Amino acid sequence: MKNLVILISGRGSNMVAIAEACAAEGWDARIAAVISNRSDAGGLVYAQQNGIPTAVVNHRDFEDREAFDATLAQVIDGFAPDLVVLAGFMRILTPGFVQHYAGRMLNIHPSLLPAFPGLHTHRRAIEAGCKVAGTTVHVVTPELDHGPIVVQAVVPVRPDETEDTLAARVLVMEHQAYPRAVRWWIEGLLESTEDGRIVHRHGESQALMGG
Ligand code: GAR
Repeated sequence: MKNLVILISGRGSNMVAIAEACAAEGWDARIAAVISNRSDAGGLVYAQQNGIPTAVVNHRDFEDREAFDATLAQVIDGFAPDLVVLAGFMRILTPGFVQHYAGRMLNIHPSLLPAFPGLHTHRRAIEAGCKVAGTTVHVVTPELDHGPIVVQAVVPVRPDETEDTLAARVLVMEHQAYPRAVRWWIEGLLESTEDGRIVHRHGESQALMGG
């Protein structure tokens, strides 16, 4: 049974999608903990109501990123994670923290990386005149919103698109893409190529198409 530790900063809808898929599909895994840097993160309520241990490590209580990340890692490691899942965890991580979880930490980002790392991805995609947008699940490396891609999901950008309408349709796809990526990781179905890409062992499509 694999232990998943999920880190959130906000509403936690991707965390919920993963927890629900884990239960519905009978993964050989459990959500060992949901940890947030904000005590008001909405997702903590779902975790508590569903018997998932929670913890808060408030970044404001620390002098610098190193000190915050050191305590965060201690708390995470207390739950013996096999995989750390960043699900809307809005903190820049130090290289030491990333190294500690090398190869066992995933992130989801609301753009088709390597396009639009950072914030305001939907607005930037619309302003750039992109005709497609989407989301990326990737292995976390020290560079922000970077690292080998596990799954991408694509949605069209419509002529009358707003940031909100695009965000909503991308989110629907995130809730499909992230559970799939985590399940593949748990089942050992992902492998690294010599040139550092991640491929599915049996060639299953790592591209999802949304409407
Ligand atoms: C998601 O859209 C996720 O891609 C994004 O935050 C949202 C969290 O939503 N993550 C990032 O921007 C990380 N760079 P959720 O709390 O409902 O899962």
